[in-house]
Amino acid sequence: MASPHHIVTLVGSIRKESFTLKIANAFAKLAPASLKLEVTTLHGLSFFNQDLEANPPADWLAFREKIQKASGVLFITPEYNRSIPGVLKNAIDVASRPYGKSSFLGKPTGIVSNSPGPLGGVSAAKHLQNILPGISGPILGQPEIYLTAVGDAFNDKGELVKEPLQKVIQQYLSAFAAFVDRQIRASAGA
Ligand SMILES: Cc1cc2nc3c(=O)[nH]c(=O)nc-3n(C[C@H](O)[C@H](O)[C@H](O)COP(=O)(O)O)c2cc1C
Repeated sequence: MASPHHIVTLVGSIRKESFTLKIANAFAKLAPASLKLEVTTLHGLSFFNQDLEANPPADWLAFREKIQKASGVLFITPEYNRSIPGVLKNAIDVASRPYGKSSFLGKPTGIVSNSPGPLGGVSAAKHLQNILPGISGPILGQPEIYLTAVGDAFNDKGELVKEPLQKVIQQYLSAFAAFVDRQIRASAGA
């Protein structure tokens, strides 16, 4: 079998007990054999500052390189004030530069939102759909995935135990795996 596609999975919360991180870990665990998800938190990524662009800090370069080496990108985000958290926007800004050379370009992309509330962070996901198209690769449009009521979905070890959520995640991952495969074949001209 071919080696799995490496998917950088960006976690939109840096909270220690983050539901988003637990969900990202569940995605990594439930991923089909054709995908390997690298769960990536954004602790310590320094603020984007255009003054530093000519001589970028080492952490920006390492972050950009990580994205560039990946076969795809999966965003998993909570919703802050009807949008994405600042740490995630900062990471997008860092990886989107230099102008015209976004590290995300060409990478098949997935968007997943979640919330302990009833709307599943849909506004954050919609904002990502606005932000990304000019600087990313193709974005999987269907199925959409907004994970609701995640607050009681985990056991003491942080593992996802809510079966309906597991099912939705598996369905999404299987569509995402097929999408990544299609996009990679198409860009290779196969
Ligand atoms: C600053 C802030 C703003 C928030 N705004 C929203 C919101 O607009 N919609 C929503 O569903 N939840 C909102 N929440 C609740 C978050 O969904 C909740 O805190 C969630 O646990 C954060 O994700 P995490 O567990 O991955 O850290 C907000 C939380 C914070 C701290």
